[in-house]
Amino acid sequence: MIPSDTRLPVTGGDAKRAYVREVFTGIAPRYDLLNHVLSLNADRRWRRAAVDALGWEERPAGRYLDLCAGTLDLAAELGNRVGFAGRVVAADFVPAMLRQGRGKSPRALPTAADALGLPFGDAEFDGATVGFGVRNLMDLDAGLREAARVIRPGGRLVVLEFTTPRRQPLRGLYLGYFTRVLPRIGRLVSKHRSAYDWLPASVLAFPEPAALAARLEGAGFAPVEWRTMWGGIVALHIATRSRTSAWTRCATCSRRSLTPASWSGSPDRCARTWRSPRSPTG
Ligand SMILES: C[S@@+](CC[C@H](N)C(=O)[O-])C[C@H]1O[C@@H](n2cnc3c(N)ncnc32)[C@H](O)[C@@H]1O
Repeated sequence: MIPSDTRLPVTGGDAKRAYVREVFTGIAPRYDLLNHVLSLNADRRWRRAAVDALGWEERPAGRYLDLCAGTLDLAAELGNRVGFAGRVVAADFVPAMLRQGRGKSPRALPTAADALGLPFGDAEFDGATVGFGVRNLMDLDAGLREAARVIRPGGRLVVLEFTTPRRQPLRGLYLGYFTRVLPRIGRLVSKHRSAYDWLPASVLAFPEPAALAARLEGAGFAPVEWRTMWGGIVALHIATRSRTSAWTRCATCSRRSLTPASWSGSPDRCARTWRSPRSPTG
């Protein structure tokens, strides 16, 4: 059963953005505990798999980005790898989440930044990860395009995200846990009214893995490979920043963006200008 509160902003827009900020500010102190409890500690393995897929060993002293970094668990998973000698910029727009990540890895640098308008130059990073974050973006395509902009051609974006098992009886059992049991435990421990209703609702509203792969291709990544883990509970996408996508300049603010043929939003405005209707330049 899909959670009954259909007013939860799961698809996009400013209401979603404000809600996501409020949720993560509220649950930050209990976020790590709930992650480990609700996933029976499997979240650690999922993050390990994401870092394994990044290909950082090619450039162990490189500069990497962890988007929607939250409490830095994924950034620290890379930062603390034996042989890793680079830096991980851990970017998130909720300072309360970043504060929980203090001290997890000396190589992970917490940075307040919005994934839809990153304060970084083109092709600045050797690769990037995003764990359970793209689902939260108010504009998925704009966020993927922005990630493509800051990753060097040939570098990888690894996306870890929840999905739902396709096959019965696992699907039924999982949805029962995900939509009935998990929200109750989440509410009890986090004390947040709706955050753990929003989690299953947002997962069910999010594109299936094949559709997400197509969106990644549309944003400037090729090839894009993906696989599911744990019976289809989690999907891992490995997207290589295309070497051939064309660059164009935003007609409004002159910022450069990758503009693939399948651009579905405004054809001549970058993520930053497009997402901000009240922007003086927008
Ligand atoms: C479910 S948490 C994931 C945290 C972490 N990556 C992990 O693996 O546990 C999602 C995070 O995405 C962040 N987030 C959502 N939208 C964002 C945006 N537009 N820019 C930056 N961070 C964002 C939230 O603040 C939150 O910390």
